[in-house]
Amino acid sequence: MTKGKDKLRRRSHSDRSNPTLSSETKHSSNRSSALEVLYMNRICVFASVMAGLGAGALFAQSDSDYQTWMKTVAASNGSLQKGIVAKDKGAVVAEAQKLQDTFKQVGDFWQKRGATDAVGFAKQAETAAGAVAKDAANGDMDQASADAKTLGASCGGCHMAHREKTDAGFKIK
Ligand code: HEC
Repeated sequence: MTKGKDKLRRRSHSDRSNPTLSSETKHSSNRSSALEVLYMNRICVFASVMAGLGAGALFAQSDSDYQTWMKTVAASNGSLQKGIVAKDKGAVVAEAQKLQDTFKQVGDFWQKRGATDAVGFAKQAETAAGAVAKDAANGDMDQASADAKTLGASCGGCHMAHREKTDAGFKIK
């Protein structure tokens, strides 16, 4: 779009100045503007290749971070459930706090992607994990168990909307 406009402007500019130029200067000015266009095109190609590489690397990295978070989350959630059954206050508090921290990062990730529903699920999970930590710290394991169910529901809600199963495993959708 802009490139096209530039070419047009350049052409009309040299048209206007043509009559005042000797044939020799006209020739060299045409050649230099051709070189200029070539140079510009090279810069454009270079810039788009760099932009493509940059965006690719960025997404690849975030996606693998994301997978690491989910693996941590799954392990912590398992230990948390076991801790509730065993009434192991210390373990439940520790795992719940870890979940709370991780879901905060998960929420930031979705915020950057502009996926409001996913931000909501992450927030729900973060809040529920915080509640479980508090319940357990107060020694109220029944309440911890109830809040852990809310936490579990947020996993399913987000997976339904944003997790896709592929032959190679899960991926973000
Ligand atoms: C805000 C959205 C969201 C929430 C909340 C969420 N997940 Fe996920 N989860 C995803 C997405 C998206 C994927 C697919 C991406 C991936 O696997 O890398 C995923 C993948 C996973 C995976 C597969 C990881 C792999 O090997 O690829 C597990 C296990 C998992 N989640 C467990 C959980 C558990 C347990 C909870 C709740 C305690 C939870 N998730 C909450 C979005 C979420």
